[in-house]
Amino acid sequence: MALDRPVPNDLSAFWMPFTANRQFKKAPRMFVGADRMHYTTADGRQVLDGTAGLWCCNAGHNRPRIVEAIQKQAAELDYAPAFQMGHPKAFELATKVRDLAPEPFEHVFYTNSGSESVETALKLAIAYHRAKGQGERTRLIGRERGYHGVNFGGISVGGIVNNRKMFGTLLGGVDHLPHTHLTENAFTRGQPEHGAHLAEELERIVGLHGAETVAAVIVEPMAGSTGVLMPPKGYLERLREICTKHGILLIFDEVITGFGRLGSSFAAAHFNVMPDIITCAKGLTNGVIPMGAVLTTGPVHDAFMQGPEHMIELFHGYTYSGNPIASAAGLATLETYAEDGLFERAAGLADYWEDALHSLKDHPHVIDIRNMGLIGAIELEPMAGEPTKRAFSAFLEAYEKNILIRTTGDIIALSPPLIIEKEDIDTLIGTLGDVLKGLH
Ligand SMILES: Cc1ncc(COP(=O)(O)O)c(C=O)c1O
Repeated sequence: MALDRPVPNDLSAFWMPFTANRQFKKAPRMFVGADRMHYTTADGRQVLDGTAGLWCCNAGHNRPRIVEAIQKQAAELDYAPAFQMGHPKAFELATKVRDLAPEPFEHVFYTNSGSESVETALKLAIAYHRAKGQGERTRLIGRERGYHGVNFGGISVGGIVNNRKMFGTLLGGVDHLPHTHLTENAFTRGQPEHGAHLAEELERIVGLHGAETVAAVIVEPMAGSTGVLMPPKGYLERLREICTKHGILLIFDEVITGFGRLGSSFAAAHFNVMPDIITCAKGLTNGVIPMGAVLTTGPVHDAFMQGPEHMIELFHGYTYSGNPIASAAGLATLETYAEDGLFERAAGLADYWEDALHSLKDHPHVIDIRNMGLIGAIELEPMAGEPTKRAFSAFLEAYEKNILIRTTGDIIALSPPLIIEKEDIDTLIGTLGDVLKGLH
């Protein structure tokens, strides 16, 4: 632990999110710069970014096109009212996102984060049914171990216990599918063989409540924050079939999987399973400026386009929906992805990534390894009576060894920028191997 880092004198005022505040403030880990694959720490070290920030900097850091677009936009039009007024770049970006998304997606509603995208999607689903004359369809179905951000709708449909238990009764009318993480799938490369049958639970839940009361099912097509859980083969397809059969909207939360993480624009395209609504954020602006979006099919959007034309069709939106600087950042981000061919690059590197990750199989404490595209997880055996401690120690030690990893529970999650080179993969995995060997 280096104590000589130049850090602000007073760290007490900033109550840090999802952070062990007391531990951090005793031994701060401060980044002061970033370029492409590396962060610079306050004590001048270069740290290899194994997590694309927080699963968001898919094009790496300090990309000139994005930096310049933000600078130019700030000087040209800093802000325009989001309600009843427009500016060109928000429309241009929506068109580009639509063109990138699989075919049924035709409309883009802007938010400022993944959490807001989720709230928007859930509200849209309920309002859609009401607009179609089925106002009794208000139930929402999420999944155990799902992460859908931190707002009330998101934690209600989400299934991470610590994110829910402090916050009261949450939304009513919510039920959960079982998670799809089965020990018999340990060390599977890509999609696991076992678990498609878990989608049948949706039939049970729908039967319990009555299909006519259910508005939507929301899942992450590949669950990221809960520890990188791949959908079993056939599982998403079956969810789609059951939703269609019962007139229930299917929402894919693609806040992590959107914009190339799996080697395709969106997971919907990757798995060739089309939901009715997609949420995204993070990679939309390369994480540089907060922005999220909700993509809908034509029929979902069109259900709202009724009544007198001078009337607002949807009473929902944010002061910063489609903010000009965020829109400029989004456009430059999508140009950067295309220019560098980053989605194809992620797909091309996936096998190398997979082999590198699975080379850690026989390291101490490793009980599972999972991967797809440029995402992966190494699950550790928890320390007896002290869950999360082993992985957190790995995180701290990795940082001292100049690699940034992320941990959730006792799972190490990796999701590097899609610009990563093979040598960087070797460094990341080689260093992580050393860390694992030194763990108690
Ligand atoms: C699937 C998913 N949904 C929603 C969110 C919340 O996004 P944000 O932190 O931008 O609110 C995240 C964040 O990691 C996520 O992974």
